[in-house]
Amino acid sequence: MKPVVIFGIGDFARVAAVYLQEDSPYDIAGFTVNEQYIDQPKLNDLDVFPFEQLTQTHPPEEYAMFVAVGFKRVNKARAEVYGACKSLGYELISYICSEATQWGHIEIGDNTFVFEENVIQPFANLGNDVVLWSGNHIGHDAVVGDHCFVASHAVISGNVTIGARSFIGVNATIRDGVRVARDNVIGAGALILADTKPGEVYAGNGTQALAIQSDQLKSFK
Ligand SMILES: CC(C)(COP(=O)(O)OP(=O)(O)OC[C@H]1O[C@@H](n2cnc3c(N)ncnc32)[C@H](O)[C@@H]1OP(=O)(O)O)[C@@H](O)C(=O)NCCC(=O)NCCS
Repeated sequence: MKPVVIFGIGDFARVAAVYLQEDSPYDIAGFTVNEQYIDQPKLNDLDVFPFEQLTQTHPPEEYAMFVAVGFKRVNKARAEVYGACKSLGYELISYICSEATQWGHIEIGDNTFVFEENVIQPFANLGNDVVLWSGNHIGHDAVVGDHCFVASHAVISGNVTIGARSFIGVNATIRDGVRVARDNVIGAGALILADTKPGEVYAGNGTQALAIQSDQLKSFK
């Protein structure tokens, strides 16, 4: 099994390294980003290598990669790096946390990362370069398209389709059978009951503060 170089030095990269070290068979060789972004030689006690020289220092015949870039530019930043690494010939690993729940009969692409407490039902399909942060429900026969990022505790019901590069915010709910189009941002707590169009943004309804202070609440006296 090839050791893995993680692309990225942000939060996702730091956190992903810990999951892979503690809960996967992969050895982590270090991190890589474009040279201009290297601001420290080490991260998590591992070396940070310039991406421009990676094919010489860590050739694709000997090393695999994982692209741990967040949802910048609605996932296009990660999609671009994913494409660049693939075209250099790197195998991109996928990871499902041992504390996620799935019974097999699912399809999963490359560079896909599934955190703990995700429930993925049979016949679900996760594309390439998908991130499922912790605690989501992915219902049976749901399709999560390439380069999507699902934050935490979202409900993606059975037979839902999420178009490529879409972002699903924390606690969002997508009704069964709905098709979320490509490049959508579904905000925190949004409730999606009907198909959406490409590039749309849905914001959840934030709750309003009452016109009293907490020490005025009778039920808390
Ligand atoms: C929906 C969401 C994306 C909107 O984000 P935002 O930070 O408010 O949006 P931006 O600052 O980029 O807003 C740009 C414009 O959108 C419009 N806009 C944003 N929210 C709006 C709302 N609720 N109603 C009307 N217009 C809104 C405004 O015109 C805003 O321009 P302004 O700065 O002049 O007000 C955000 O509320 C959200 O839910 N984000 C996901 C959070 C999440 O799940 N995080 C997990 C990370 S792992």
